[in-house]
Amino acid sequence: MVEIFLDNVTHIYGKEVKALDSTTLRVENGSLIALLGPSGCGKTTTMRIIAGLLRPTSGRVYFDNVDVTERSSQERNVAMVFQFIVIYDKTVFENIEFPLLVRKVPKEERIKRVKHAAELMGISNVLNQQARKLDPGTRQKVALARAFVRQPTVFLLDEPLTNVDPQTRLELRKIIKELQKDLHQTMIYVTHDQAEALTLSEKIAVMKDGKMIQYDTPEALYDKPKNTFVAWFIGNPGMQFFDVSLKQSDGAFLLDAGEFSVDVSNVSGQLVKYGNELKLGIRPENIQVSSQKKVGWFNTKCTMVERVGNMHLLTLGKGRLEIKAKIKETDVREGDTAWVQFPSEKVRVYSKAGELII
Ligand SMILES: Nc1ncnc2c1ncn2[C@@H]1O[C@H](COP(=O)(O)OP(=O)(O)OP(=O)(O)O)[C@@H](O)[C@H]1O
Ligand SMILES: [Mg+2]
Repeated sequence: MVEIFLDNVTHIYGKEVKALDSTTLRVENGSLIALLGPSGCGKTTTMRIIAGLLRPTSGRVYFDNVDVTERSSQERNVAMVFQFIVIYDKTVFENIEFPLLVRKVPKEERIKRVKHAAELMGISNVLNQQARKLDPGTRQKVALARAFVRQPTVFLLDEPLTNVDPQTRLELRKIIKELQKDLHQTMIYVTHDQAEALTLSEKIAVMKDGKMIQYDTPEALYDKPKNTFVAWFIGNPGMQFFDVSLKQSDGAFLLDAGEFSVDVSNVSGQLVKYGNELKLGIRPENIQVSSQKKVGWFNTKCTMVERVGNMHLLTLGKGRLEIKAKIKETDVREGDTAWVQFPSEKVRVYSKAGELII
């Protein structure tokens, strides 16, 4: 168990591919965090640098305040599990036992630890089978057991569930979360699946173009995304934005989108200095919709109703604008007039450059 600190790490592949750009990240001792971001944003590069498989072009890596930048993967005692399942041509038992053999752990202790790791992963019944003959989900359980049995200082899991079936994915998510709780093991989990990041981790580092954009709790990422990229990236679908200007009318402050406006009198003080070019952000699930006319709500035309899981995603036209609203129950149908309200406490306001104001 260690605290990991990446201090201003930059990595350039070859001469010009800047995979990481002045990245700073602190992973507290014993916490489970996720790296989340689109393909190519630098997640695997970050993991390989923490693992000691790659030396950063510049910046330092610390484990518990000790500079380990020059240390090998073995010296750091890091275990890494990859998306591409790595299994040796041996039995399940021998696969899990292998790192203990390398470390010359006595036989009795080896048997005890292998059995315990197999039990945790729910694969005790296949210990004598040839690992390569098993299905991908079970093979990945073997790879995870082999990583756990070593009792590493940190666990790095790089999209470990991408190649396993949905049923095993759910099962393994649960196992990983429980293990982390029991062992208080520092774990970093890479994924580009936000649902996985949100359910598993205490904190999530959202990455884009080699930069850490926001490192926060799932609640904060959802509720107060620092910029429009995070706001849009988190959520299904993500936050939607409307270009607005701040207007005064009868003593009230309104965010005016042209086709509709939202009263923000209670928070307008902070907005005045940003001038007129603002972005109003709201999550589809925070919009209120009714088939009945309501005072203070504005009317729209429903152009589409889609089912998303147990929710309805409505596309609502308002002049040149399109609004997406996600609600559980609705009697609004395609072609109907729908009345809409943006609750002011759910409205976020971003600057023209996309930074959160309120
Ligand atoms: N060995 C390499 N040589 C040159 N460029 C590389 C190498 N490995 C990665 N890159 C580039 O560095 C950037 C970051 O890659 P990285 O693999 O860290 O991203 P990632 O976030 O893990 O993506 P994915 O979600 O697809 O796994 C990308 O532009 C990628 O093309
Ligand atoms: Mg990757």
